[in-house]
Amino acid sequence: MAALDHTIPVGVVGAGTMGAGIAQVAAMAGHPVRVLDALPGVAERSVDGIGQRLAKLAAKDRATAGAADRAGARLAAVRSMADLAGSGLVVEAAVEDLAVKRELFAELEKACGDRAILTTNTSSLSVTDIAEGLVEPARVAGLHFFNPAPVLALVEVVAGAASSEAVLRTLTDTARAWGKTPVRCASTPGFIVNRVARPYYAEAFRLLEAGVTDPSTLDALLREAGGFRMGPFELTDLIGQDVNSAVTRSVWEAFDRDPRFEPSTLQESLVADGRLGSKSGRGFYTTDERPGPATAPAASPPRGVVVNGAGGPLDGFVRRLAAARVPVTVGRDLGPVRLHPADGVVIRLTDGRTAAAVTAESTATVVLVDLALDFETATRVAISAPDDAPPAAVEAGVGCLQAAGLAVTVLPDVAGLVVGRTVAMIAAFGADAVDAGVASEDDVDTAMRLGVNYPRGPIEWGDRLGWRWVREMLDALAAAEDPRRYRVPDGLRERADHGGSGA
Ligand SMILES: NC(=O)c1ccc[n+]([C@@H]2O[C@H](COP(=O)([O-])OP(=O)(O)OC[C@H]3O[C@@H](n4cnc5c(N)ncnc54)[C@H](O)[C@@H]3O)[C@@H](O)[C@H]2O)c1
Repeated sequence: MAALDHTIPVGVVGAGTMGAGIAQVAAMAGHPVRVLDALPGVAERSVDGIGQRLAKLAAKDRATAGAADRAGARLAAVRSMADLAGSGLVVEAAVEDLAVKRELFAELEKACGDRAILTTNTSSLSVTDIAEGLVEPARVAGLHFFNPAPVLALVEVVAGAASSEAVLRTLTDTARAWGKTPVRCASTPGFIVNRVARPYYAEAFRLLEAGVTDPSTLDALLREAGGFRMGPFELTDLIGQDVNSAVTRSVWEAFDRDPRFEPSTLQESLVADGRLGSKSGRGFYTTDERPGPATAPAASPPRGVVVNGAGGPLDGFVRRLAAARVPVTVGRDLGPVRLHPADGVVIRLTDGRTAAAVTAESTATVVLVDLALDFETATRVAISAPDDAPPAAVEAGVGCLQAAGLAVTVLPDVAGLVVGRTVAMIAAFGADAVDAGVASEDDVDTAMRLGVNYPRGPIEWGDRLGWRWVREMLDALAAAEDPRRYRVPDGLRERADHGGSGA
């Protein structure tokens, strides 16, 4: 089945933020587009607004003036459902309310003719529920664009229980013809992106609630070590704390309040206080105030460094140490290491246990290093040591990372540190979505890279780190903090048994 021919009309119902963006995309792809809204004048204003945006694109050379004019001329505001007759595809982007959407689809089914594919841009409602009770639910599916629709490439093509394969294929091909990158997924809560992204926010809120450190330090670690484009606090301030917490709550409710998806009381109290983020001038940050991250002062490099865990992510760090001429000993699993803090430091990547627990198995104090996306290029990393560690050991840890050119944040002895626990949870949530039949591994990775700009897809991340590391991290967090929240699903256990220990 090929993409919908560009001569076939497309209907857009709901001419707000998303409807306008989707109408613009369809018109630029060559379709005649009819835009309908429940409120008088809104569709007309929306079409005018798209015309102005197209003119701006042409002025900035992002579209030719001819293409922008022609796309503008293809758009028409319409006043009634009957005007959508003959559409080959309708995208509904009305208010997020199941009753409203059901009523709309019942009307669309009557008004649009037999051949129209009917889609919803819902973010959180079940496509199956929206299509329930229709004469022909097979032609209904989700077509989930991201905001701003003309800019963001990802489109989730969502299969309801009754959606036909032919319809899903046409939608996938059409999205591609519109210049988008479609991924396929089943209609389950949060689809791909809004499900797999939950721990990115939740782990950070949890660390803040536990008093581990402040928002700006957590943001800096996830950006500078984790490689994420924005930290969770600055990002949710931008999205709106109310919007982000509503998504979390709706996914949690839809999963029967599974503790793995539990909302943050801290975020909810922020919303109750009206601290919604940039739009209200105050969220986790105030608009004019952004403190810097906690950074350790300069320390001298130790006389020697032992890196425990060769052949893993810390190899990049070892190369940096060697380049800085710091004497370093490396082992895959170095058993007991005899080293006095004055002589050097033993470094190990976090595996979810506290530094106290790891040190208890060693003859020297172990300084744990948080995960980084790439230790060769990271600019900051967190470390931790047991609460009762000799100050010289912590200083040696700081000094050796600084010698390799990294800014260092010293954290309390918290299990899984920051990037480590966050990435392990994202990888686990990605794997769980695949194992639950929501989407393929490739589509989960594509969705998270394009939908929320993750530097690496969750499955690729898990493959590289080794699913055994991911499982160990969750098992350790379950033991240290909460067995229900960090429960390891059976599928992840199997991956860990078969997937080896990573690169
Ligand atoms: N805003 C986002 O970031 C985003 C992203 C992806 C998906 N979505 C989803 O897209 C849909 C629209 O969201 P939005 O942000 O564009 O909302 P919006 O409030 O900007 O626009 C909704 C529009 O729908 C109109 N409307 C309401 N009921 C209608 C009806 N019965 N018939 C016709 N028009 C009706 C409203 O008048 C309004 O103009 C929602 O389902 C939302 O969950 C939103």
